Amino acid sequence: MLLRTSFLAIFVPALAEQKRSLDVISSLDADCLCPIYTALSQYTFASGPAGGTYNHSISVTSFFAQESYIETTANFEGICNRTVEVASMYASARARCDGNSPAGTISFWQELCDVDLSSIEPNGSRSYDSMPILDPDVNTTASTGTIKSPVLLSESYYKRAYKTCVIHEKALGQDIRFGWGLMGYWGAILGLGMVQKILSFWTIRRTMDPRRDTEANAVPGPIEHKQIPSPLSSTIHALRTHIIVPASFTPKLPHHQRLLYGHCIPKRLDLIIVFGFWLLCVLLACVNYDGDTKTSTMPQRNWHYSSDRTGILAYACLPFLWVFSGRNNIFLWVTHFDAQSFNTFHRHIAWACTLLAIVHSIGYSIILADYEDAYHEAWRHKPWYMGVIAVVAMSVLLIHSITWLRRKGYEVFLTSHIVLAIVIIYALFQHTRPDGPQWNPYLWTVVATWTFDRILRILRIAYCNLHIKSSESKISLPSSTVTYAPDSDLMTIDIEAPSHVTPKAGQHYFLSQPLSVHYFENHPFALGAYSEAPSHSPKEKSKLTFYVRPYNGWTKSLRDRCIRATNSIHPLLLLEGPYGHTAPLHTFDTVLLIAGGTGIAATLPYILDYAARLRRQTTKTTSIHLLWSARQKSMFSTVFTEELSHVLECEGVQVSFFCTESAPVSLIDSDKEVAVGPGTHAAGSNMCYYDGRPDIRGAVETEAEMTRESRTRLAVLCSGPGMMADECRLAVYEAMRRGCQGIRYFEEAFTW
Ligand SMILES: Cc1cc2nc3c(=O)[nH]c(=O)nc-3n(C[C@H](O)[C@H](O)[C@H](O)COP(=O)(O)OP(=O)(O)OC[C@H]3O[C@@H](n4cnc5c(N)ncnc54)[C@H](O)[C@@H]3O)c2cc1C
Ligand SMILES: NC(=O)c1ccc[n+]([C@@H]2O[C@H](COP(=O)([O-])OP(=O)(O)OC[C@H]3O[C@@H](n4cnc5c(N)ncnc54)[C@H](OP(=O)(O)O)[C@@H]3O)[C@@H](O)[C@H]2O)c1
Ligand SMILES: *[C@@H]1O[C@H](CO)[C@@H](O)[C@H](O)[C@H]1NC(C)=O
Ligand SMILES: *[C@@H]1O[C@H](CO)[C@@H](O)[C@H](O)[C@H]1NC(C)=O
Ligand SMILES: *[C@@H]1O[C@H](CO)[C@@H](O)[C@H](O)[C@H]1NC(C)=O
Ligand SMILES: *[C@@H]1O[C@H](CO)[C@@H](O)[C@H](O)[C@H]1NC(C)=O
Repeated sequence: MLLRTSFLAIFVPALAEQKRSLDVISSLDADCLCPIYTALSQYTFASGPAGGTYNHSISVTSFFAQESYIETTANFEGICNRTVEVASMYASARARCDGNSPAGTISFWQELCDVDLSSIEPNGSRSYDSMPILDPDVNTTASTGTIKSPVLLSESYYKRAYKTCVIHEKALGQDIRFGWGLMGYWGAILGLGMVQKILSFWTIRRTMDPRRDTEANAVPGPIEHKQIPSPLSSTIHALRTHIIVPASFTPKLPHHQRLLYGHCIPKRLDLIIVFGFWLLCVLLACVNYDGDTKTSTMPQRNWHYSSDRTGILAYACLPFLWVFSGRNNIFLWVTHFDAQSFNTFHRHIAWACTLLAIVHSIGYSIILADYEDAYHEAWRHKPWYMGVIAVVAMSVLLIHSITWLRRKGYEVFLTSHIVLAIVIIYALFQHTRPDGPQWNPYLWTVVATWTFDRILRILRIAYCNLHIKSSESKISLPSSTVTYAPDSDLMTIDIEAPSHVTPKAGQHYFLSQPLSVHYFENHPFALGAYSEAPSHSPKEKSKLTFYVRPYNGWTKSLRDRCIRATNSIHPLLLLEGPYGHTAPLHTFDTVLLIAGGTGIAATLPYILDYAARLRRQTTKTTSIHLLWSARQKSMFSTVFTEELSHVLECEGVQVSFFCTESAPVSLIDSDKEVAVGPGTHAAGSNMCYYDGRPDIRGAVETEAEMTRESRTRLAVLCSGPGMMADECRLAVYEAMRRGCQGIRYFEEAFTW
């Protein structure tokens, strides 16, 4: 009973302490007494002593508090002094409750308050009909004044109020089920994600199955057969074209990675999912307020219903709010969603959760202020102010997370995010504590999700860095080399990791520098290049290379140290990883890689992977084309050092380097190709230079046309600035709309 009991506890602090067990009270017919009490307690009754002595050794407070139905702040104290009220309640219970109800027997009331009720006991044929009838719909508290003799609650009002009291209990069960509905929505989305993942695994296995290959090559028939679009495959194609691949408002507004007025626009599939969630939230918060609860005499009940509902729905948001935030996330592994989609979900759930919590707190504030006149009193009670703290913290968090502020100071954002999240969870535990453990599962799920993530982070750091040499029985940490190339404004970070770390394309790692002022930070970087340890022996090392563009924080301090050292430096850097999905590019006949600036880091490993697979003959790819645009010409030589230049000679690899530097540099002018367009390359080499930006749309169109004609499959992977990625996505979308079925789009743009 979310806030109902805690609400009670605010006003009836004795609740927690009074544990007296009374047989009479435990057998109390609360469903019967609730409407009578709530109706009568609004009135002023004449107070005693008017007969009998009052048994004060039983706390009336504890009796009513046991039943969480009673939610008014009515003055319980001295209720036994108000003999007329007790007599009215007794008479009403006799007349309205089931005859065997304890509330309808004199012993119950006498145990409660030692009051003489015999004068209103019915005797002979006398019934209660002769008593004055009180109907709160007719007799207003003002018109009635002080009631001086016992009255009977009207039957019609009793019935309606009874329904309300019972419904309240029912409503709570429904609220909880609605909360499950909200969680079920996300469960279903993740379930669909898992199905998609399984299907794609299956497709990859089918594509790479060598038997299918030979069959297909031997008999031309099946190929022809395969090309006839079945209803299923055209449905899937339509789904991909119109739902999965495009940006939300494509082609009018191809923004996805780019910000629009400082806001991220999710892609279409994510937008639909998020829209469904909002719709569900609004529906669940608004519908099915059952029963005759809209009587003017009980508007506070309506506030109660909606406040309880929104409070429970807000709690139901919490588990998935955390599920979608973690770095180590089971659902990232078992579904096809990427971190960016999860981030979108996380943010929208956070908004919904906060709005629900705000409605919830407004509702209870109104109840307290307008109906109970106890608003100021409430502030002295912990469950109340802890709830307020949680709502305020959630709102601050939300405001602090807007893209502009986050980009302004990422570390401030992150630190405040974590601190406020801890405050919120602590405050919520306190907020619903008076209700007992009922609401704790929601909160413990959050704690468990978070703990899981943090523990896995530590394990990953240990896995990536600690190298226990059994022979010398000592622990060694990875050695790293950082070099800064001023011409290309690029840092190259080489890290030698233990041999069991297996670098792969598509991975990214978090780097941290524990022995610096930035010790608490960790920054993600795409794995740019690697050489795997030839064996898993402890003497061997895997080498991981990262290409880092210095910005203003930690990366800047690292660059400055490089400049001061005039050469490379060897700081202690810790790796945490690997994270990220590897795109199955080796299952495609043609691969088009599009990189902008440091985005090369996310594309280069796929070329290395291709070269390695070519040797082992485990790739279907016959042509891999890299379009790389960078501001500085020297970037090319910084990245394609001697070590890597061998991949440029690989069969099927073609590299087009575009330089967008405004001031021409004469360094490689001699190599410049004049002709522009795919396919032209310098004599004896797979690579060519161009001036100016690449024509991404044109390149995608050409390749898509070629694959459509040859009925092969094309993968486009883009990694670069937001605008570049958006342009690339649009180009793929358009090719798909033109009917190119064999094209797939992968994106590694990490702008958020
Ligand atoms: C998956 C992924 C892969 C990346 N790969 C590369 C790469 O290969 N090469 C490269 O040069 N950059 C890469 N980046 C970007 C890189 O993480 C940031 O440039 C770096 O963290 C900035 O550090 P700073 O303290 O110098 O930044 P600041 O000057 O403080 O901030 C610069 C920008 O980086 C963002 N940022 C800062 N810290 C983080 C963080 N811990 N996590 C995410 N964003 C942050 C800020 O919001 C801001 O927009 C990648 C980012 C992601 C998310
Ligand atoms: N996926 C990853 O793992 C990863 C890794 C590292 C970086 N990144 C991201 O990649 C981006 C690159 O950053 P950077 O500072 O290194 O880049 P940069 O120096 O600005 O270089 C970007 C290059 O791409 C060109 N370009 C931009 N938009 C284009 C478009 N629409 N069409 C054609 N060419 C376009 C630019 O041309 P102009 O000079 O004419 O603008 C420039 O040559 C960042 O947003 C970063 O977050 C991603
Ligand atoms: C109720 O009556 C008792 C004695 O009969 C008295 O001590 C007490 O103050 C009264 N309470 C109120 C609230 O009037
Ligand atoms: C008054 O309360 C005490 C303590 O619970 C109980 O023993 C006693 O019987 C009650 N008096 C009457 C008249 O019921
Ligand atoms: C029975 O009811 C009458 C009124 O009808 C009343 O005067 C009388 O006292 C009652 N008797 C008892 C035993 O309560
Ligand atoms: C309630 O109002 C009705 C109709 O006005 C009246 O007959 C009745 O006596 C009132 N009851 C009380 C307890 O005042």
